[in-house]
Amino acid sequence: MYPVGLPAFYQFTLDHLSWSSLLLLSCIVCLCIALCDHFSDKTDAATAIPGPFILNLRPFFRTRFDFLNWGFKTTGQSLFQFRLLRNNVVVVSGEQGRKDFFNAKGLDLQEGFRVLSGALPFVQGVTSDLRQQRIASIYKRLANVQKSDRLTELIPEIAADCQVMVESWGKSGSVDPFDKIYEIVFQTTVRCLTCSEIANDPEVVARLRRLYDQVDRGTTPATVLFPWFPSPAMVMKLRATKNIYDIVVTAMNVRKQSGVTHNDSLQMLLDAGEEPNMIVGFIMGLLIAGARSTGTIASWLITFLASHPHWRQEALREVQGLIASHAADTSQAPRSASSLLSSLTLSALENHTPILDSLIRETLRVAQPHVAMRRNVGPDMYIAGKIIPTGSFAVYPFSDVHLNPDLYPDPRRFDPLRPAVKEDFGYVGWGGGRVNCLGTRLAKLEMKILAATVLLNHDFKLVDGAGAVPTAQPLPNWNDVLTCRPSNGAFFLKYERSQPQA
Ligand code: HEM
Repeated sequence: MYPVGLPAFYQFTLDHLSWSSLLLLSCIVCLCIALCDHFSDKTDAATAIPGPFILNLRPFFRTRFDFLNWGFKTTGQSLFQFRLLRNNVVVVSGEQGRKDFFNAKGLDLQEGFRVLSGALPFVQGVTSDLRQQRIASIYKRLANVQKSDRLTELIPEIAADCQVMVESWGKSGSVDPFDKIYEIVFQTTVRCLTCSEIANDPEVVARLRRLYDQVDRGTTPATVLFPWFPSPAMVMKLRATKNIYDIVVTAMNVRKQSGVTHNDSLQMLLDAGEEPNMIVGFIMGLLIAGARSTGTIASWLITFLASHPHWRQEALREVQGLIASHAADTSQAPRSASSLLSSLTLSALENHTPILDSLIRETLRVAQPHVAMRRNVGPDMYIAGKIIPTGSFAVYPFSDVHLNPDLYPDPRRFDPLRPAVKEDFGYVGWGGGRVNCLGTRLAKLEMKILAATVLLNHDFKLVDGAGAVPTAQPLPNWNDVLTCRPSNGAFFLKYERSQPQA
């Protein structure tokens, strides 16, 4: 019926109506569509937020935490929906909502992340084509990096990197933890996931970090929603991504041509016969996923240690106790922190650090402004009784559970002694249900060795921009989904070396 009827209707209107009448007609048609949409059977659809959809764009990308909270408040519902241009997005909260969300079969993380986040560098045929098979092989190799044998080998390498970098701070001074702690994590993540040619060259690592920062800065509402449009931000992002790609490919080719083998992730991938695009995808994708989240959490972990002297003492005591009881031969003195930490077993670091574990757990709760994003790849499904049509997106802000005063009284307060919440999905710091972090073991190991290195090397405390002890505790900025820097001013780590150099 449409192919016959519509062209005839168009022809009639073009022949008989003026442009102003056409404009009026178009407006009427749009209004009818909007009204039909409004009055159609919506009993199982989530309530839509009011206002033109164009107003959602900026807040969703720039002040996501405030925007989502405003949506819940305005609609008065635990689920609501809004449009992000062509995309329909349902925002989920509440106990039933998170259960359905995390257990749903048809909700796809990669699709949700690709369309709504755009954080992954985009290289045609490499990271843009992370289809199921390639993703599965990347995850399989990531699991290999985290086998106990490999993590044991990585302990001294991570410890040595941490030691070199904290020594470069000098005897005393102050540093911005969101710059300097992140820098250390970037180095250790490069060490664990790439190759020695890159990890041993501080200039290349620093360049890689700058390039990843450019990719982050190029992730704007426009570049996410119109990836085909060559805006200046998109051009910067593409150029940075191409440069990262070149660094990785060059390292891979040098390794292949030299014929010299090393004990690192690149070698593991080459020896397994992985094809070049998979190797580049592994390194580029996991580096950004791993370094950014571990860097942010580690920066906050050290910030909390600096602002909570009691917990700094407790953590230091734990590390010293660990070394005394688990490290091989602590009698020769003096030994650097890295040498002491290198002789710890993996089991000691993983299973005998209850204080560091609870500090990390609480840091993830208060300083991880993650919004889980998924796309329903079909069929239509329901979350807490509301329909998520095929092709729509469902998002779940971690603030719903982690900043929930019913589950965590005074939720913004950093308190590692909080009892575990028994409710299903009452804590999702490492994910939950069908999607769990696949880098947890590596991230925890990196953070523990880094924290131990800083604790053993320095006395430190938190100061404000004027060098004074701050009157208020630093507050994680939940609107800053990428770096989560404090929302209430600048804070610095003031340190003095306590450990004699080896
Ligand atoms: C402190 C550091 C980290 C935190 C807090 C963290 C947290 C998370 C969370 C919450 C998820 C689930 C996301 C969602 O449901 O939307 C996730 C997924 C994931 N993480 Fe991590 N992560 C960290 C470090 C890492 C590292 C170092 C790697 C890899 C080297 C990594 C690789 C992944 C991957 C591949 C997934 C997706 C899993 C899937 O597709 O099923 N993460 N992470």
